[in-house]
Amino acid sequence: MMLPDRTVASATSMAVSGAEVVREQSIDLQMSSDAVPLRVAVLGSTGSIGKNTLEVIAASEGRFKAHLLCGHRSIDVLVEQAQACRPRWVVVTDSTAAESLGPGAFPKGTELVIGPERLEELLAAPEVDRVVSAIVGAAGLRSTWSALAAGKTVALANKETLVTAGPLVTQLAARSGATIVPIDSEHSAIHQALRSGRRHELQRVVLTASGGPFRTHTKEQISEVTPEQALKHPTWSMGPKITIDSATMMNKALELIEARWLFDLRADQLGVVVHPQSIIHSFVEFIDGSVIAQIGPPDMKLPIQYALAYPERYDGPARRFDFGVAQQLELIPPDLERFPAVRLGYDVAARGGTAGVVLNAVNEEAVQAFLNGVVKFPQIAELCERAVSEHPFIGDPTLEDILRLDAWARKEVQTWMC
Ligand SMILES: NC(=O)c1ccc[n+]([C@@H]2O[C@H](COP(=O)([O-])OP(=O)(O)OC[C@H]3O[C@@H](n4cnc5c(N)ncnc54)[C@H](OP(=O)(O)O)[C@@H]3O)[C@@H](O)[C@H]2O)c1
Repeated sequence: MMLPDRTVASATSMAVSGAEVVREQSIDLQMSSDAVPLRVAVLGSTGSIGKNTLEVIAASEGRFKAHLLCGHRSIDVLVEQAQACRPRWVVVTDSTAAESLGPGAFPKGTELVIGPERLEELLAAPEVDRVVSAIVGAAGLRSTWSALAAGKTVALANKETLVTAGPLVTQLAARSGATIVPIDSEHSAIHQALRSGRRHELQRVVLTASGGPFRTHTKEQISEVTPEQALKHPTWSMGPKITIDSATMMNKALELIEARWLFDLRADQLGVVVHPQSIIHSFVEFIDGSVIAQIGPPDMKLPIQYALAYPERYDGPARRFDFGVAQQLELIPPDLERFPAVRLGYDVAARGGTAGVVLNAVNEEAVQAFLNGVVKFPQIAELCERAVSEHPFIGDPTLEDILRLDAWARKEVQTWMC
């Protein structure tokens, strides 16, 4: 990978990941008069993570530049972002949505590119230094795959990539020399905490979960909740799909699976604890009993900046933890009866193979059906559980197997929801 002039790359100590996907490079991000920004492709720039990423880039004092923006249907947002950032490329993945673009919508020097195939080609361009993968859902798999195949450093928000194809993705990164740095706040916390010890000293990781808006609801109350209630997250502001996943706690299931593949853990090294304040972002326990946590206010700008700048740190725009204010930080074991998605997450993380892709596909379809009023809230986890147990399981799937089962699961669950 070509790095800009001011970037001093030295090699690499395998600080954090057994899967060798997180490679430590020394990169000088300090500003100097001849500083050349690292050029960032922001996939999903029109979404919640994408917008936060552009704020981090805008506040980076020239360390980073948005070189490629990619949106799907939010054309007005994309036009506004392009006017502000003046990227080299704007990619619209939905060709129908692109038809609404008038001439002169983008600034001079910005080229409009349409369709996911062209996006995949552009990600391999030498002038793309970093890729932020923040498309929602399995739709983010192909572009993330292309960036990794081209050996890029990928700041990964799209957890579905690892949930659906974790072992293949980490193997690809190892082959191409690509680096994955997580954006998910829990995985960013684990990534940071792992830097306190050596691989063979690791006991387990424990992911924190806010518990979502229904943390204290009874099972009966949970069975009647509406989309409006589920879309009100108590601590985080996020896109609609992940907000519903937080309410069902399926988000934690997906994150258990993500952590398993990203950090090359055994399933018995994974844990979850409910932490309603969302201040502690996760824990790493070492074999001597020492537990390292990473804390900060719930603000995605910090993990985004960490992933873009890794292994450097600088003074950025993220909110700060206030030690002058009294805080009560609770830790509560999750209730797997009321939130069966968490149990399913443990099962799927242990099973591997095609269980992840089927879980993810059915969850995406069921969340949409819940938002459309077609299914009730508890059915989301029930449909996922049924699909995982009934699907034609493959233990060691190819990418083709994964894509085929993704399509199969989406079709199958539609017939169950009629
Ligand atoms: N939000 C968070 O705080 C957070 C935290 C951790 C991890 N994540 C993960 O980050 C990812 C993005 O989440 P988000 O909350 O930012 O979602 P979001 O606000 O719903 O944004 C989704 C983005 O994906 C684009 N998109 C949707 N369908 C697409 C398709 N078929 N092809 C290409 N692009 C498509 C959207 O484009 P248009 O809007 O232009 O249609 C938008 O830019 C998810 O995987 C989520 O799990 C999010």
